[in-house]
Amino acid sequence: MKLTAEQRAVLEGARGPYLAGCMRWLAEWGEVMGARRLIRCDNTHVLLPVPNLVARGASARTLETFTEGLKEACRHPVAPHCLATVHTLFVTLDELDVPENDPAQVRVQREIAEMAARAGYLPTFTCAPYLVGNVPLKGEICAWTESSAVVYANSILAARTTRHGNEGAIAASLLGAVPEFGVLLDENRKGTLRIQVTAGLRGPSDWGALGYFAGSAAGLGIPVFEGLRRPSQEEAKQLCAALATTGGVSMCHIVGVTPEAPTLEAAFQGAVPKQRIVFTDETLRQTYRSLSNATGDEIDTVILGCPHASLAEIARVARWLEGRRVAGGVRLWINAARATRAAAEAMGAAQVIQAAGGRILCDTCPTNMRIPCRRLVTDGFKQAHYARGMTGAEVIVASTHACLRAAITGRWQGDA
Ligand code: F3S
Repeated sequence: MKLTAEQRAVLEGARGPYLAGCMRWLAEWGEVMGARRLIRCDNTHVLLPVPNLVARGASARTLETFTEGLKEACRHPVAPHCLATVHTLFVTLDELDVPENDPAQVRVQREIAEMAARAGYLPTFTCAPYLVGNVPLKGEICAWTESSAVVYANSILAARTTRHGNEGAIAASLLGAVPEFGVLLDENRKGTLRIQVTAGLRGPSDWGALGYFAGSAAGLGIPVFEGLRRPSQEEAKQLCAALATTGGVSMCHIVGVTPEAPTLEAAFQGAVPKQRIVFTDETLRQTYRSLSNATGDEIDTVILGCPHASLAEIARVARWLEGRRVAGGVRLWINAARATRAAAEAMGAAQVIQAAGGRILCDTCPTNMRIPCRRLVTDGFKQAHYARGMTGAEVIVASTHACLRAAITGRWQGDA
């Protein structure tokens, strides 16, 4: 790894010990990954979460020790040229009546969020920053946490970001630089797996099923999809989230959609493999079956908005719920960024959802909150995957309409 004189000076402490540590992190990570240099980064999406330690029996002192690192990071300003947004938190900051909220954790998380805002991070509090103003341009070098957003940025927007954890994204935000490796380089954006889609994909959850299947087949590679129409934003969101759930995928190519893949040849940089996997209608059905593990019909939780819902999704849900009522004992949560909810309130959609007994929940992620529930219905493959693994809930993954039908009847009635 070759550092410039300026980078070396930061490493040696010219801007203080914390930034020296950040520079060491980027340099050593780059070395391990085979990077030759650090390059300018103009866009970051960082995670500043406080795990729910107190609720799990840890002392207040432990929580304080853990969060001191995050507070220290937020005492340093974001690099002036860098747009930095913030991922979800593990609590809901403005809805303290959600029973899973732990008051001590909320207090600390709120303090960190305020410090982050003063340091220059935009408080988007979402896993889908591209829905609320962080929309990098083609070729823009980014450092994003949130694997679903990473795949979306690379594949749909043709921006460039590797998959970051907290430390890398914070260091990149403060120094405005990242090690150059992986999909930041042209040669590493070449497709590795050819997938022909013959299944008829009807809506976002079907695109999620495709991603769930393809992520597992691609592993750390780059799947190339042929035979697909142009997806809606919500369909692309589900595809990208599911790809990053079962695989270590950083990007995919949708031939004719991904800006740098106008043709199959372009997606494979000229070396198109003959071998291909075919995703058929039967594969689609089988993918739904592989994840759903419900042993009965009665449901208690319906989660939409994983990744966070767009305004269009919320408007559609509100139209469907108008004049209907969520069944007693069923929780219907739609996760969204607070900016999206504000727009939904302005247009009256949020009020319709609330009147029906549903709720638009902001700032957080239901999976990370470990919502205790018995049987959960969701239209997000990622949500179903993690809820099943992390909370032990029985899950059903289905179309948005089937989820809403389950919410108002309190029963799973199949996905017609
Ligand atoms: Fe977002 Fe949580 Fe899903 S972070 S992508 S709502 S698992």
